[in-house]
Amino acid sequence: MKWVLAFSVLFVAAALAEEELVLADACDEEACQLPDCRCSSSSIPGGLNPRDVPQFVMVTFDDGVNIINIETYRNIIYNRVNSNNCPAGTTFFINHEYTNYQLVNELYNRGFEIALHSISHQTPQTYWAEATYEDMKLEFADQKLLMSHFANIPINEIKGVRIPFLQMTGNASFQVMSDYDLLYDSTWPTVTEINPGIWPYTLDYASTQDCVTPPCPTAAIPRVWVLPMISWLDLEGVACAMVDSCYFTPDLNSEDAWFRFIVENFERHYLGTRAPFGFYIHEWYISTYPAVRRAMVRFMDMINTMQDVFMVNSHEVIDWVKDPIPLQEYLQKPCRSFTPTTCPASSCGPLSSDHNEWSAYWMQICNVCPNTYPWLGNPLGQ
Ligand SMILES: *[C@@H]1O[C@H](CO)[C@@H](O)[C@H](O)[C@H]1NC(C)=O
Ligand SMILES: [Zn+2]
Repeated sequence: MKWVLAFSVLFVAAALAEEELVLADACDEEACQLPDCRCSSSSIPGGLNPRDVPQFVMVTFDDGVNIINIETYRNIIYNRVNSNNCPAGTTFFINHEYTNYQLVNELYNRGFEIALHSISHQTPQTYWAEATYEDMKLEFADQKLLMSHFANIPINEIKGVRIPFLQMTGNASFQVMSDYDLLYDSTWPTVTEINPGIWPYTLDYASTQDCVTPPCPTAAIPRVWVLPMISWLDLEGVACAMVDSCYFTPDLNSEDAWFRFIVENFERHYLGTRAPFGFYIHEWYISTYPAVRRAMVRFMDMINTMQDVFMVNSHEVIDWVKDPIPLQEYLQKPCRSFTPTTCPASSCGPLSSDHNEWSAYWMQICNVCPNTYPWLGNPLGQ
């Protein structure tokens, strides 16, 4: 009986997944219109002139949040304000293991964006390349629940996904996003469409973007957004999607050389068509190289005074693309708002875990303690 049931559940799940998959057609510009559809392209949304486009800068940090790296965030990100007097944004793509959810709650209550970077973040990278719909559901749909539960964040404020190692998983991650109400993916690097840069687009129709870490999606998955990671160019012109993966870097001890390097990459966007500029980095890099950290701070200080540049949460870029108002109108808009939450703090542990019998875990959370350490298949640790 149990077997029959398990079998039919699997069968229904597979049938559902199959049903939704249709190969995407070439994009039909007439049929695909904002706010809910956009063809992959480097044309500026709304047909705006570059000088009328707010230049968005997306600073993002990946991986776990803990008592060490929060100090960097408090020091260099908190209390920043754009020239329009709105708080500057930053997006955190957070994976579960060793994350301190009380600190995630703090980041959320500072107005930053909390996004998903998987529960397991496991190696090898081929796990992600070969991941199925079910794997991606366990990693991301369940992480959305986990994050909302333990960090006490409204579930619909969690909108973004970045897959570990920037490894695409074909249709699977996007299907899960569509089924579990996740707005955008920020995993997909481009090395060819950087000048002019490609703008965010939806997967209603076939993407024309280069596929750096295959498999890339080819099915039609309506209303899910791709927020492409437009690569930087290092000193030898080699593309790098994450700043800390650039190879031919300036001297890691030279703040001036790093500042020039950052500005050169920024100007490719700002002096071009103003496609959103990504500053994608891991905290360990700037804590290892203080000169890089100082250069980054100097860059943020500079853009926070520029009248047409805005450091924002990544989802704000999607919001703007859906409704691409000109700079002068953008400047009249109220600042983003969010619903503050409390953190009923618990310190939990030692918690045993099914995936790692050798270690016990402690968790700092905003909820009652779980029974075991949350993991794949048991996101609330029941
Ligand atoms: C994605 O879906 C399309 C349409 O069904 C299919 O042709 C393609 O092989 C799928 N891609 C992967 C990597 O499974
Ligand atoms: Zn990572």
